[in-house]
Amino acid sequence: MLSSSSTSERPVVVVANRLPVDQVRLADGATEWHPSPGGLVAALEPVVQASGGTWVGWPGAADVELEAFDADGMHIVPVSLSADEVADYYEGFSNGTLWPLYHDVTGEPVFERRWWDAYREVNRRFASAVAGAATEPGSVVWVQDYQLQLVPALLRERRPDLQIGFFDHIPFPGWEIYARLPWRREVVEGLLGADLVGFQRGADAANFLRAARSTSGVVTRGSVIERKDGRQLRAASFPISVDTAALDCLARRPETLARAAQLRSELGDPEVLVLGVDRLDYTKGILHRLRAYGELLDEGHLEPPGTVLVQVASPSRERVEEYQRLRDEVEATVGRINGDHSALGRPAVHYLHRTFPKEEMAALYLAADVMLVTPLRDGMNLVAKEYVACRHDERGALVLSEFAGAADELRQAFLVNPWDIDGTKAAIRRAVAVGPPESSRRMRAMRRRVIEFDVHHWANAFLGALAMVAEPQG
Ligand code: F6P
Repeated sequence: MLSSSSTSERPVVVVANRLPVDQVRLADGATEWHPSPGGLVAALEPVVQASGGTWVGWPGAADVELEAFDADGMHIVPVSLSADEVADYYEGFSNGTLWPLYHDVTGEPVFERRWWDAYREVNRRFASAVAGAATEPGSVVWVQDYQLQLVPALLRERRPDLQIGFFDHIPFPGWEIYARLPWRREVVEGLLGADLVGFQRGADAANFLRAARSTSGVVTRGSVIERKDGRQLRAASFPISVDTAALDCLARRPETLARAAQLRSELGDPEVLVLGVDRLDYTKGILHRLRAYGELLDEGHLEPPGTVLVQVASPSRERVEEYQRLRDEVEATVGRINGDHSALGRPAVHYLHRTFPKEEMAALYLAADVMLVTPLRDGMNLVAKEYVACRHDERGALVLSEFAGAADELRQAFLVNPWDIDGTKAAIRRAVAVGPPESSRRMRAMRRRVIEFDVHHWANAFLGALAMVAEPQG
């Protein structure tokens, strides 16, 4: 069993669009807290808990006014958003403009001036909330992700004493794409308010440095940026990871092992269990994957019920039109594959449109012979790392997109270009056929990587670099 390394001694104020828990209103009007979706929360929660820090964020529903409270070893500071702000700042500018633009235009970005105004206004509100929550002079504030890119500069205006870090969880696009953004200078200047701007991959940091030179006339030397006012900051890569020891420990529990065996038996004891786990998002390449998988069944290379695909697609951004369209297309495609290839009571594809607790996910990862992680574009993709962290048995094969940040590190996966359907089919066939000596060798090497470079390593590396660069000017 692995031992867990811990993170930063100093309490950190983390600022993210979402709190680690979402407030959900039930049919009878009562409310409940549910864990928030996505890799950001999974990665940062242990970090904030370990430092006894503060988390500033939105509770996930419109017009929820809440006082600050303590939960699970964290001080929680909710930031309220109106229904219009949810529509314009969150669904609009964050997820209708920036999300598709930053993911290399895998969806069509919409440039709407009203959305930009709401984005600025909500970023101001977050900056004010953080300025109030960071009670200690010189506190460390760590701003997260593309929804809050203006916060570093807004916060520095209010609290020049703070050490301000920013981490971008999603890709930062090349200049030719980024340059389309009508507010490209304002966004870069928001980020230049930080002492340290972190990215998933070196390529993202290089793209940002280029955008900073082109829009703000700053001078860069390696990762160092010299602003016109003389202040220096850095932009560099810090690949995010998972809490490997915690996942390894969860996956070794007798209940998890028993549940994994039970899952396989509930699925009819297939020879090969193939698994996909994604937020239902067009960047995740679910349709391309299903096309490849469906063709393998059509051509008889894979044969149900001996081979079964389980696709978990967790609901996401359901009021955004593009996501509604995607859901329809994914469900029609699954229906077509099942119509052609299922037997009574034995579907070829088990499609699950919901989220599962981490215990169930660990059992699924352990049960799966082949894991398909084939996004068209992804900042990191922590599902790939979670799968590896859970496979203490050194079994299982990972098919991984070259366009996920994780591909820079998990080189022993079966790497694919997800746009290349034939290439994806060939990689799935190789992963299905790979025997234990080779699959164990690959898995061992990938596990070495996620064991050494876990989420605590990521947070320590980022916060250590922030402390080096930040010069409190209080
Ligand atoms: O890292 C990508 C990200 O957008 C996070 O910021 C977010 O917490 C997660 O995916 C889930 O997305 P959303 O908060 O829009 O449901």
